[in-house]
Amino acid sequence: MTRTETAAPGIATQTAPLLDVRDLKVTFNSRDGAADAICGIDLSVGAGEVLGIVGESGSGKSVTMMALMQLLPASADITGSARFRGQELVGATSSTMRQLRGARIGMIFQDPLTAFNPVLTVGAQIVEALRLHEKDLSKKAAWERAVELLAEVSIPQPDRRAAQYPHEFSGGMRQRAMIAMAIANRPDLLIADEPTTALDVTVQAQIMDLLNRLREERNIGLILITHDLGVVAGAADRIAVMYSGRIVEQGSVDEVFYNPRHPYTRGLLAALPKIDGEAGPLVAIEGTPPSLRNRPAGCAFRPRCSVSVERCSTSVPALLSLNGVETACHRSEELQRISA
Ligand SMILES: Nc1ncnc2c1ncn2[C@@H]1O[C@H](COP(=O)(O)OP(=O)(O)OP(=O)(O)O)[C@@H](O)[C@H]1O
Ligand SMILES: [Mg+2]
Repeated sequence: MTRTETAAPGIATQTAPLLDVRDLKVTFNSRDGAADAICGIDLSVGAGEVLGIVGESGSGKSVTMMALMQLLPASADITGSARFRGQELVGATSSTMRQLRGARIGMIFQDPLTAFNPVLTVGAQIVEALRLHEKDLSKKAAWERAVELLAEVSIPQPDRRAAQYPHEFSGGMRQRAMIAMAIANRPDLLIADEPTTALDVTVQAQIMDLLNRLREERNIGLILITHDLGVVAGAADRIAVMYSGRIVEQGSVDEVFYNPRHPYTRGLLAALPKIDGEAGPLVAIEGTPPSLRNRPAGCAFRPRCSVSVERCSTSVPALLSLNGVETACHRSEELQRISA
């Protein structure tokens, strides 16, 4: 049973998803020609639900999220559909996106230093974020809210901290402050791109606890992008595994972790130490992912796959549902039978 079903009965399961992405494609155009970074992905996340997205470097995790938020350069062509509470994001006007970003949809990045302005205090920046979306909020009331938000993300002495500059915060504290800013306008959806990668393990766990608490208390939907399968195993309800611009496996964390169908997912999991709680980063599949301009025909994973057959070099496997998990592998049915 997924956490969504136990923690929030009827909320995430009976209403339309918060975010529903269909056939999203991103192509970067340059003098060297076009490069397809995202080749048509489908995903959805509900209120109070955590969707983990994993995959090696360059698989397209960040580009997917930047495309949804319209944060990619003009050289990127984006097609397909991404509905947030029914509202189409692909092709939405920049003023619509400005209203959504930071208000209805919050974003948390790996490096909080880049998200903060170094010459403004942390409190002043939260005040700015609040007043951007709530025009008649007084400066004084906004400052009080900023202090409350810092307290909510467990920053000690929040009134003193609010008056400090980002460089006066430790890495973990800055990450908390960025989360405070991201939730300032009470978003329905949070997108966290490697929110804990730069932090040590103890702080990582604290940040994940914090995100989990926010999800439960505020029923926020969370998209959690990470290299770290251990983080996903502990925090997500569902997981999407990306490889070379596609989702190759998607399902509940329990199903995907305990019964992976795709050879790539199996490879990722084989790279994990077996002791619970000590899962490491994704490292151990031999070879490297193809570059965008050099994708092999057929399945992009084929050159690294130990069970590929002829068909894998000619046709791209579709993402098909097999016993509740979606898998894009020509041999997933056979492989599942063999391992069962
Ligand atoms: N602005 C851009 N112009 C051209 N190509 C880009 C641009 N941004 C990203 N790419 C390419 O798109 C592909 C996907 O990149 P992306 O940043 O989404 O990977 P990722 O899965 O987030 O990796 P990481 O785990 O390293 O963050 C990569 O091949 C990358 O080089
Ligand atoms: Mg990335």
